[in-house]
Amino acid sequence: MVRDERATMTQVEGVERARCPVPLEELERSAKPFNEAVVLPRACYTDPEFFEFEASAVWEHEWICVGCAGMVPNVGDFYTITVLNEPLIVVRNKERDVKVVSGVCRHRGMVICAPADRPEEEWTAPPPETSGNCSTFRCPYHWWTYDLDGLLVGAPAMDRTTDFDRSQIRLPELRTELWNGFVFVNLDAAAAPLAPRLGSLERFLENYRLEGMQTVEPYTVPDVPFNWKIMVENFMEGYHPSRLHKGIHDWAPSEGISYAPYAEDGAALYGFMEAVHPDGGFNPTAKALFPPILTLTDAERRRVPFVYVPPSLLIGLQSDSAFWFVVLPTGPETHTLSMAYLFPPSTLELPDFGDRLHAAIAGVGLFNNQDLPTNTAIQKGMRSRFAPRGRYSWQEEVLSQFNRWLVTRYRRAVDGLA
Ligand code: FES
Ligand SMILES: [Fe+2]
Repeated sequence: MVRDERATMTQVEGVERARCPVPLEELERSAKPFNEAVVLPRACYTDPEFFEFEASAVWEHEWICVGCAGMVPNVGDFYTITVLNEPLIVVRNKERDVKVVSGVCRHRGMVICAPADRPEEEWTAPPPETSGNCSTFRCPYHWWTYDLDGLLVGAPAMDRTTDFDRSQIRLPELRTELWNGFVFVNLDAAAAPLAPRLGSLERFLENYRLEGMQTVEPYTVPDVPFNWKIMVENFMEGYHPSRLHKGIHDWAPSEGISYAPYAEDGAALYGFMEAVHPDGGFNPTAKALFPPILTLTDAERRRVPFVYVPPSLLIGLQSDSAFWFVVLPTGPETHTLSMAYLFPPSTLELPDFGDRLHAAIAGVGLFNNQDLPTNTAIQKGMRSRFAPRGRYSWQEEVLSQFNRWLVTRYRRAVDGLA
């Protein structure tokens, strides 16, 4: 993302105010309770200038989930991820801590983990994300080398360079927080910690024992062709399951949805669908494919919770497993979507785990087959001059909550408080 600060910021009496391309009053109409609220203006889903504003108002100040600590279980394990055009490296260091550092070489800006040796048809393609295990990161261009904390430990032929002190050079480290095994980063050094604002969600999820679950390898779809909020809305709202997913979602009907009240100081939106039978599953059998999580109550085994830790983490839970989506915008009409299952360790040890996982992924695929084309078509609809500012059903109350969460941050940026 290239940001033109002059276009989006104004200085008024020393307070830096962001210029929002949509009048705040228009946005406020979406932040009312669900029975009064309307859909956000189309610019929020399509306009590059609004996207720039939103990036600075929301994404540069919030805790952004970048995956699971379980994706780097061993010292030296790493993967790369791009957040708001920032190439990052998530790595487990020698102290076994998960660190997130900039992936941009301090010499002349090569993306350190980008492959420099690619087939001709990929010479000018964007560098792919990579993962692996290493003891140091060596930039392929001139071999500047960094340890697992990002400290420069090698830089060839720099001995004639005046005042070059290798020990003073390191990859910038981002503020990082771990919550229930998820890794969060924040680009704002002054942001309040995340975990203290997740207390009620923590209690809601307590019996799932998320912190002990293990993730399987995530599947990442780059360049998903719709605005990131469309993905979030689709994941969280309970209005469409009994309609778009008629038949395959009947075990957890839309009329069983309820959401936790909006908490001004909370850092999560969540709710659950009451199922018609316990131990349901998102597959053609409508039954869980794995053993139930033993710590769940009978009531919990009839529930399908949906959780959003904005802006990037979505979690769905079933009686046998959980699944997570990480949504990272790459432009006003595109995002990167990663998804994976979480299981209790005992489930991963089942002799037929691989076959069952295959069936589970195929089952979720049936829902994606309907959700992803719908979301893609929504993007086209929101580009229309006739894009609606439609009203909400009670079954999509969470959308007005999401709008409220967003508009609070839009307003803060306009007021110079972000
Ligand atoms: S750009 Fe990385 S070593 Fe030169
Ligand atoms: Fe869906």
